Formats: sequence, structure tokens, C-alpha cells
Amino acid sequence: MLAELCCKRRPGLWRMLAVAVFVALLGCLRAQELRGHVSIVLLGATGDLAKKYLWQGLFQLYLEEAGKGHNFSFHGTALTATEQGQEVVAKVLESLSCPKDVAPARCAELKDQFQRLSQYRQLKTTEDYAALSKDIEALVQREGLWEAGRIFYFSVPPFAYTDIARSINSSCRPGPGAWLRVVLEKPFGHNHLSAQQLATDLGSFFHEEEMYRVDHYLGKQAVAQILPFRDQNRKALDGLWNRHQVERVEIVMKETVDAEGRTSFYEEYGVIRDVLQNHLTEILTLVAMELPPDISSSEDVLRHKLQVFQALRGLRRGSAVLGQYQAYSEQVRRELDKPAGFLSLTPTFAGILVHLDNLRWEGVPFLLMSGKALDERMGYVRVLFKNRACCAQSEQHWVAEQSACLPRQIIFYIGHGALGSPAVLVSRNLFRPTLPGSWEEVGGPPGLHLFGRPLSDFYAYSPVREQDAYSVLISRIFHGRKDSFITTENLLASWAFWTPLLDSLAHEAPRLYPGGAENGHLLDFEFSGGQLSFSVQQPEQLVPGPGSAPAPSDFQVLRSTYRDRPLVTAWPEELIAKLADDIEAAAMKAVRRSGQFHLALSGGSSPVALFQQLAMGHYAFPWAHTHLWLVDERCVPLWDPESNFQGLQTHLLQHVRLPHYHVHPMPVHLRQRLCAQEDQGAQAYAEEISALVANSTSGPRRRMSLSLPLINRARRVAVLVMGRLKREITLLVSRVGHEPKKWPISGVQPVSGQLVWYMDYEAFLG
Ligand code: BG6
Repeated sequence: MLAELCCKRRPGLWRMLAVAVFVALLGCLRAQELRGHVSIVLLGATGDLAKKYLWQGLFQLYLEEAGKGHNFSFHGTALTATEQGQEVVAKVLESLSCPKDVAPARCAELKDQFQRLSQYRQLKTTEDYAALSKDIEALVQREGLWEAGRIFYFSVPPFAYTDIARSINSSCRPGPGAWLRVVLEKPFGHNHLSAQQLATDLGSFFHEEEMYRVDHYLGKQAVAQILPFRDQNRKALDGLWNRHQVERVEIVMKETVDAEGRTSFYEEYGVIRDVLQNHLTEILTLVAMELPPDISSSEDVLRHKLQVFQALRGLRRGSAVLGQYQAYSEQVRRELDKPAGFLSLTPTFAGILVHLDNLRWEGVPFLLMSGKALDERMGYVRVLFKNRACCAQSEQHWVAEQSACLPRQIIFYIGHGALGSPAVLVSRNLFRPTLPGSWEEVGGPPGLHLFGRPLSDFYAYSPVREQDAYSVLISRIFHGRKDSFITTENLLASWAFWTPLLDSLAHEAPRLYPGGAENGHLLDFEFSGGQLSFSVQQPEQLVPGPGSAPAPSDFQVLRSTYRDRPLVTAWPEELIAKLADDIEAAAMKAVRRSGQFHLALSGGSSPVALFQQLAMGHYAFPWAHTHLWLVDERCVPLWDPESNFQGLQTHLLQHVRLPHYHVHPMPVHLRQRLCAQEDQGAQAYAEEISALVANSTSGPRRRMSLSLPLINRARRVAVLVMGRLKREITLLVSRVGHEPKKWPISGVQPVSGQLVWYMDYEAFLG
């Protein structure tokens, strides 16, 4: 009979057995110190995740820790009625397995011990939580123990979080001196706003240090090895882990399964929210972060991870390619009772190009890719190094350890795929890595090729004992290793990074793909000039894609007039590309004519995409002959993130080769003062302009701006207007005259130059 059933009917016997187990363990401890009682409450103990991973993870924890002086009780809980829940849990406990090196008889004994310490109870009301708390206290007291802490593992849907959190906080916190840890499973919100809301709700019940948000990819052995590997091989990696040596980084999670049976969740989330915002972003931070001197310090690791988010360049529509397997819409219609014509726009595949604007990674593409219904199940992080070698000797004489002509790569192989197990692979022509003793060198099946090379080209290491991610994470929760979990700040930084892209892709029709091996090269993609695009054209039969939403390519760049001047309208990507092309053409012409080009740029968020486009996609731009001016500037120091110059610096200047004496920030900050009339910054700028181009600026207040007379003397003026919020103002300005009283823009009337309006569809048409 199972322990928890015994327990219910004959509690006295159960307790006696539990005490007996504990006493037996104490015997093993000999002189070791007793470390206190830990209660682990598994909420949702009868659910799928619990059945598949969590009970096994708890058993693993018990095997590892009970002999070290810890005393445990495991409380499986759910809304399920007691008897029914007990039956489910009993079955799960029966199916637990021991590590391979444990003999069957010993395993049976250990399982028996664990079963006796585990029980199921229904947990519904606040009173139930209070009763649980009382029972834990009574157990601790009865057995002469002291309480070390309580872990509550929330394996329940997020909508249940707040009520459970309230009950734990009010009725089930441990007494003074004992810790509380609550473990939460994703999804943690749907976008930045909802994540913030959820974080605020939870924050009213728990302290930050009490919350452990799980990203199970951080428990995958190859992922968990990224930082230790970087740490143990610091010397070898010192000169390698940077933009000078790294060609690109690929972070990939391919799945063969599709979303069938889960479409109610998947329709809400899609692949970016489901795995890129969390799993792949977490991996990216581990690869890209600056390594703290001591990686055992959770605070340092978390702080350095957070810094990565600050360096991430904002994503835009062109940063992504999206796909959807063909059967998806049909599955949604069936599972969610949608009408016959319903077509979903939810992406089930995404490739994303990420850049970091910092000294270490500037210019290195980080490619993130994941999808359902692909040809294989496989996950990896691949750091591919630049190769500048040119070998005179033919390939048959190349020796893996020596040949500089072979590819140089480091791969954290997360699992599945041809190799099957997690591994760390280092090309032999790089260095022989150091790995912890828990990893061993492996050969793999004969003839195996990975990433274009035979496995024998790599130093390959796998864990001596494979562990599933949840077991790894449960152990880390127990040891309070916060760096393996997602802090609130980390979570919100990640959503802040992804939300604008998700918003901009909301109406994008993904490319349809058949699924499995038949995908052929349909989902291959490439990057150029900061943009991603599919490598092959969409074949005819797949074109009538889902949804009636127009894709950018359905529209041409339209030309018309606005305020009697030429108007270019398009979707934002095309509009920016067109404007950048026009500026480049004007620059080339000016340089041919006079040897130099003067470009005055405004700040704020609208031109950011233009700066990025100019930075990444215009290699022929005559930067060496270009002078950059500002159209206006805020009265803040130039290093302030609000400063227009700072935006220009981040998104353009640091990516192009412009002589620094050609860069002319507005002198808003002189003598440690901001825009003081007495400092005559505006006059100084006017003089600088007139020395190099023309003349005149107007007086400063909260900002410093080029004056209308000067703007109107320009050869060309482009006005960029983007976004739905500008619709009202474009309507208004279309009707006002040329008196720049209320709307300075209406006074822009180049005397002999050309004025062109560039508006995206949303600004122009609403
Ligand atoms: C989950 C996603 O987080 O990760 C699933 O919600 C995905 O859609 C799963 O299938 C993949 O995890 P693993 O461990 O099977 O690679």
C-alpha cells in the first residue's frame, strides 16, 4: 500500500515510518550536522508537468540531499479531491527511477523512503493553507527538528497565481528564521505591460528574493555549462570572445512537434512569446554577458546579465522572418471552434537577427531561430569564429588540430539531434578546453558529422550523468542559486526588448510551410544590411497566405503630394529604405559636385530606424566627406539618453567611419550649464555653420534648434512622419497655411531647394 494512503487512514503509522526513515538517515550522517527541516509543497501535483518531471526532480533532490543532513517532507497538492489525487500521485511515485549506478534493490529502498515522506492533500481555501502550515509546524515540533524553510512550486496556470500567492502569504508562511521560496512557471505575461502587472501583483505578496521564476532551458546541462565553460577557459577565450574574432552566434531550438492540442495557448502566444522571449533570450545573455570575476556570486551574474539587455539594439520588422506550418490554421479552427474561413496569423517559426551595441559585440550578428513542425528536434548555441587563413596545402593533408583553414567553432549542444545527448564541442584548431570532472570526453557514433565537420574535428564532452532540466533547477532552488532563475528586472527587460517587435508584427502574414522534411529550403533565411529575409522566393501555391491583412509587399511605394510638395508613402520599412536611398543619392551627388555633403538630422524616436538603415545598409555612403549637424537638441548633457546627439551616436555614429571633426553636436552644455543664454551656444553653432555652410540659428530655451530661415536655405529637406499617432497632426498640418505660428513645420518652405514629405501609411491614411 502506498505511503500517502496509509498516511490518510493511519496517520500514526505513517509518522512512525517517516521518523524511522529519518532516524535511519541520521545514522548515515554520523557526525554531520543536522540542517533542519524543509517542506516542499508541489501545487498542481497531479498535472502533466508534475507527473513528467517535477516528482522525479524532487526524488532526485531527496537522493542528493537527504544524506547530507537535510530532513524533508513533500506535499503534493492540487484542487483534485483527496482520494483521487492520492491515487494519481501514488502512481507517479511508483514510476520514479533512480540513476543508472544505483542497484535495483537499493533503488526500491530509496523509493520507499521517498514515498513515505510524500503525501497528497487537497489545497483549495485559505483555511486549507492554514491547516497545511499547522501540520508542518506540528511535524517539526513532534520530531524535535527546526524549520529551515518552505518551497512552494507553482505548477499551475498563471491565472491561479494571485489567489495562491495571497493564501501562502496570509496563511502558510514559515515562522521567523525560516526561508520561503516560491517557484513560478512561465508564461510570465504576454507583453511588457501584462508582465509588469503580474510582477506587481506577485510583488505585493512576496519579496524579490523569495521568487524563483523558472526558465527550464537554464537547467539544460549544456546551457548551464555556458558560464562555467567561459570561466574555466578564460585564458583561451580571452582573445576570442569578441567582435574581432566571432563571425556570428546562432541560438537555435528546432522542434518536430506541432501545436496540436495546445492551440488555445499557442494562438495567444506564438513562437516568439513561447520560446524566443524566454529560452533563447536567456541563452543569449549567457553568451554575451561580461563574465564576472566570480561566477559563483548570484548577484554578480544577475547584474551582468541585466547589462546585456541595455546593450541590445531595438528590433524592427526587418529583424524577423516568420513562418507558420500549413496545418496550423485548420488545427486552430478545429480546437477553438473558429468559423470555416478563419486563418490565423500566429507564427510557429521565427528567425530573428539581434545586434548588441557594445564594444565586445558590435557588428556581430546573433541569429535566433525556433519553430514547430521542422525537420528535426535539436537545440544548440553555435559560436562561429572568423577565419582569415588561406591554406596552400590541399584538404586531404589538413590535420584537425593544426589546420587554420578548417572552421573554428564552439558549440553548446543542448540535446537531441544526431548526437542525442548534451555536449560541448570545441574545434580542435581552437584549443583543448577544460571542463569539470562531471563531464567526460566522448566519441559519438562513427561517421557522425555535425555542423559540416566530422565529430572527430572537435574536442567533444558530455555529462557523465545526464540530468533533466527540472532536476537541475530543483536542486538550484534548494541551494538558493538565484542566478539560474529570472528576476523581475530581467523579465521586464526581456519583455521591453521583445514587445515593440511583437506589436509591429501583429498583422504580418507568416510564410506558410508544409512541415517536416518537406520544408526543404523554404525557411532558410539570410541577413544583409541589418535585415533578415527568406533565401528563396515563396512558391506560387503558398502565396495565398493566411489572413486578409496586407503584407508590405502588397503595396508599392506611392508617390503623391502633400502641402503641394512631393509625398512618398509606404509601409515603414520601405519608407525608411527609400529615404535612406534618397539621402545616399543626394550625398553622392553633393560630394561629386563640391567634395562634401552636409546632413542635418533631427532626433527623437522617429528617425532611429533611418539611422540604423544608414548605418547598416549603405556601404557606398560617402561618410568620409559628410558633415553631420543636428536640427535640434534638448537642453540636456550630450551623454544623457534623452539627448538627440546620444541617439545619433548609438544608432549611427558608432557604426560608420565619419571623421570626428565632421560631427557637430549642438553646444547645449557649456561651462557646466545647460542652454544658458549667456554662454551663447546658439551663436557659436551659427558661427560654426556659417564657417562651413551657411548661417544663422535661433535663440535657445528648452531646446536649441536650427532656425527656419536656415532650414529654408537647404538644398533638400526631407520630413519623416511615422505612426498612427501622427495621423491627426498630418491632417491638421495639411490644412494650415505657411505661417509658422503654431506649427513650425508649416514654415518649412525651401527657397530654392526641394522639400519632400515621407509618411508611412499609418501617419498618412490612419
Ligand atoms: C516550452 C514551450 O517552454 O518548451 C514548448 O512552451 C516547447 O512549446 C518546449 O515545446 C520545449 O522544451 P524541450 O525541453 O522539450 O526542448
